[in-house]
Amino acid sequence: MNYQDLKYIYKPSGKNGAYTLLLLHGTGGDETDLLPLAEKFGSDLNVLSLRGNVLESGMPRFFKRLGMGIFDEQDLAFRTHEMVAFIRKLATKENFDAHKVIALGYSNGANIAGSTLVMYPDFFAGAVLYRPMQPFKKMPEVSSQSHAPVFMSNGSMDPTIQPGATEKYIEWVKQSGYDVEAYEVRTGHGLTQQDLQLSVQWFQKNFNTVKAAG
Ligand code: MLT
Repeated sequence: MNYQDLKYIYKPSGKNGAYTLLLLHGTGGDETDLLPLAEKFGSDLNVLSLRGNVLESGMPRFFKRLGMGIFDEQDLAFRTHEMVAFIRKLATKENFDAHKVIALGYSNGANIAGSTLVMYPDFFAGAVLYRPMQPFKKMPEVSSQSHAPVFMSNGSMDPTIQPGATEKYIEWVKQSGYDVEAYEVRTGHGLTQQDLQLSVQWFQKNFNTVKAAG
């Protein structure tokens, strides 16, 4: 199968050397979903928002799954290569720095960001993973040379994730050389203000962005 382009929205910051915040929606979302959230991360960021190329009963996703929480790992690997190739191509077209891309993904979007951490350990300058799941059943040994900062937040009452699975995944991310900050929020699978607040604080600490209004 050949790589296909992804639908996207790109909003340049107009600032030289800016980071690019890469927005990756959850199942059934699209490239418009996370735009309001991106505004909270600062006004000096380019924003690139993608729509997953896979449709599940009409719902966009970033890769196929075989059941709830059971991933089609072959498709996940293919879609990860496809997404990274597309972002690299787009960096030339839209004129942003492909080495300064920070992923921000929710649920299915967090999971393709996670598989990028596995398959391209030095591609992201940082990553925000809301409600992530371990992307592959057997995680390979990975050694990130850039030690990119990774924020993770999970819901303590999230019915989509098996107890204990999150701790194992966080441990893998740490062992792989990433600089991890992980939180558990007393909620389910949906995002809360607390997730947002914690991730914005983490972002400002790690990327020193201009504080956004509101
Ligand atoms: C996934 O399929 O990536 C996870 O189960 C989360 C979801 O999108 O529902």
